[in-house]
Amino acid sequence: MEQHLQHPVFKSLTDIADLHRIEVYVIGGYVRDIFLNRPSKDIDIVVLGNGIEFAELAGKQLKSKVAVFKNFGTAMLKFQDLEIEFVGARKESYRSDSRKPIVENGTIEDDQLRRDFTINALAISLNKKNYGQLVDPFNGLNDLSNKLIRTPLDPELTFSDDPLRMMRAIRFATQLDFTIDSTALNAIKKQKERICIVSKERITDELNKVILSKVPSIGFKYLFDTGLLQLIFPQMANLYGVDIINGKGHKDNFYHTLQVLDNICETTTDLWLRWAAILHDIAKPATKRFEEGHGWTFHGHEDKGARMVPKIFAQLKLPLNEKMKFVQKLVQLHLRPIVLAQEVVTDSAVRRLLFDAGEDIEQLMLLCNADVTTKNEYKVKKYRNNFELVKQKLKDVEERDKIRNWQPPISGNDIMEIFGLSAGREVGLIKNAIREAILEGEITNTYNNALAFMLEKAKEFGLKPIKR
Ligand code: CTP
Repeated sequence: MEQHLQHPVFKSLTDIADLHRIEVYVIGGYVRDIFLNRPSKDIDIVVLGNGIEFAELAGKQLKSKVAVFKNFGTAMLKFQDLEIEFVGARKESYRSDSRKPIVENGTIEDDQLRRDFTINALAISLNKKNYGQLVDPFNGLNDLSNKLIRTPLDPELTFSDDPLRMMRAIRFATQLDFTIDSTALNAIKKQKERICIVSKERITDELNKVILSKVPSIGFKYLFDTGLLQLIFPQMANLYGVDIINGKGHKDNFYHTLQVLDNICETTTDLWLRWAAILHDIAKPATKRFEEGHGWTFHGHEDKGARMVPKIFAQLKLPLNEKMKFVQKLVQLHLRPIVLAQEVVTDSAVRRLLFDAGEDIEQLMLLCNADVTTKNEYKVKKYRNNFELVKQKLKDVEERDKIRNWQPPISGNDIMEIFGLSAGREVGLIKNAIREAILEGEITNTYNNALAFMLEKAKEFGLKPIKR
């Protein structure tokens, strides 16, 4: 173990610990990540004694400022690129209505016992007499090699003590590609309702970590199977299931969405594009109809889905800013390239798509590629080929017409000046007419052509220029 504790900061901690005859350990994620070969910058130190006093001694020696969190009995200091957190070893129990514990001093094993998972309860001694020795009373190392998420205590107690740990179990299983031990999984199913005492922000933090993992469907399947998803994000759980009428079923939109999400994760690490994948079909349950002679339809699910986005973002305490607007736009437009890929691709349809998607066209194309989940090889090939065609067209049309960052060649101000108008409905009508003519390909995107077109069009509105 010693070779993993080479950073000079550990030597300083050892010196202080021995000088003051205090037992000190590195514990938690830092130790776990040594075994997983994931370098980490967050170090948790547990002290058999007063964690805050020890942190202050360390702060003095390392010449670092110490931040003290009296209510939690913890202290933190930054040293070079490391964040080191200190806490006294605790024996604790939680009240049923809150995540705030009642705390007493304890031994290292007491402290390990109250941690969330065996893989997070590994500790390494820092005192000289047994420097580098691993303390692993709950077989965390075994669980690491068996890729198992297990709790040191009876899981019912661990999760009831701190229900956020139900989300953490699922998050670690997803990030590390581990399995949740069946007793722990059953305990989550039993205790799921207690998630309601956890703040929405913390739940969403964990959810976002699931989404940022390599294969997020692992986490969503756990969330659904335990019943947590139905509580924290019911709109997504609603995607589950297949209705059958006259022997005709539709695809299960929950599993389809997970496939789209996993697909998009192969091409992007962007959290918001991943959210767009999660939400692209979110309104399918609400718009589902069975039409005789036609089968299942989901007309308008893209519009309704886009309208649902702000409510879902607010409910999950996700930011209500341009990130939300981006997700909303992609949900709104997600069918457009697919329609184009199925039909004869006209220049004007491509121009309209460029105009509506603007800067986000590449992201939209990634979403649409990810949305092809049919098992029919022939169809996959056909769609992919047509997408390539659409992409080429997008490129050609953009090079020629510069629609992507479209600025009207004639501004509202120009129109007001030319016709002596003040701001109002007529200015909007003229602007629209010019835009439509350009998108339809009647005129090119240049000032002179737009001006000629406008002067002609103005006659229909009974307008005459006052100046040329
Ligand atoms: N811990 C816990 N219960 C929680 C949160 C944390 O028992 N609800 C303990 C675990 O021992 C954990 C340590 O506190 O390892 C540090 O927590 P945190 O920094 O949140 O997680 P890490 O395990 O370090 O993992 P990551 O940095 O990936 O979140």
